[in-house]
Amino acid sequence: MSLDGKISTIERRQVRISSDRDMSRVDALRASSDAVLVGKNTLITDDPKLTVKSSALREERIKKGLPANPLKVALGCINELNIDSDFLNHGQAGKILFTTSKSDNLKIDELKTKATVYVSSEDEINLDYVLETLYKLGVRRLMVEGGGRTIYRFLAAGVVDEVYVCVAPIIYGGEDAPTLVDGAGFTSDNAIKLELFSMEKEGSELVLKYRVLDA
Ligand SMILES: NC(=O)c1ccc[n+]([C@@H]2O[C@H](COP(=O)([O-])OP(=O)(O)OC[C@H]3O[C@@H](n4cnc5c(N)ncnc54)[C@H](OP(=O)(O)O)[C@@H]3O)[C@@H](O)[C@H]2O)c1
Repeated sequence: MSLDGKISTIERRQVRISSDRDMSRVDALRASSDAVLVGKNTLITDDPKLTVKSSALREERIKKGLPANPLKVALGCINELNIDSDFLNHGQAGKILFTTSKSDNLKIDELKTKATVYVSSEDEINLDYVLETLYKLGVRRLMVEGGGRTIYRFLAAGVVDEVYVCVAPIIYGGEDAPTLVDGAGFTSDNAIKLELFSMEKEGSELVLKYRVLDA
């Protein structure tokens, strides 16, 4: 995120915020995860590949008997998800979509040719259900990459163990730019409390790792 807590600019699309070194850190974090998850807006606007970029890290996973890439997971309405998207096509990785009945049946059927699709009857997809389903698929470590609304929902559901953030030396500003945690927000009574357990300075960037208290 930027120094002012933004994870994109007011254009709300993918921007490169941190250094190459930080991107390698994020790649290693992906490689150490069993699944990587994004919300619908990130899925549609960024169309992330969500794969491990380093061939050495992919090989290490294979040596451990793991697939080269973690599972890719997305949450939300999938009507705008293109069958040719990078999310669905780039890299050999399992793809899972948790969606709701807001998605068209025809679209769901089309996307089922490329991904496993779970359809919730509620507009709000229950995150315990998501985590139980992923657990049954062997996921023990899930990396939630964003965006801010999705991170809010995971924090609000009390299912986040750790928060890792790189603070980059840049300021984007703007009320409409997404921040690390958006959504409805918390009051002072139910705000998420954390404990810092690691702090690294790399050039002008800071990488901060926190444990969520009482998760
Ligand atoms: N800097 C970074 O590291 C980073 C990482 C990721 C994203 N981003 C940026 O973040 C921005 C997007 O963030 P955002 O907050 O607008 O959106 P988001 O978190 O990517 O997606 C939010 C949407 O996901 C769906 N969703 C998530 N959890 C759900 C649940 N439990 N039940 C039902 N639907 C659920 C909802 O879609 P529907 O209700 O509409 O179906 C919701 O509106 C983009 O600008 C992107 O570039 C930055």
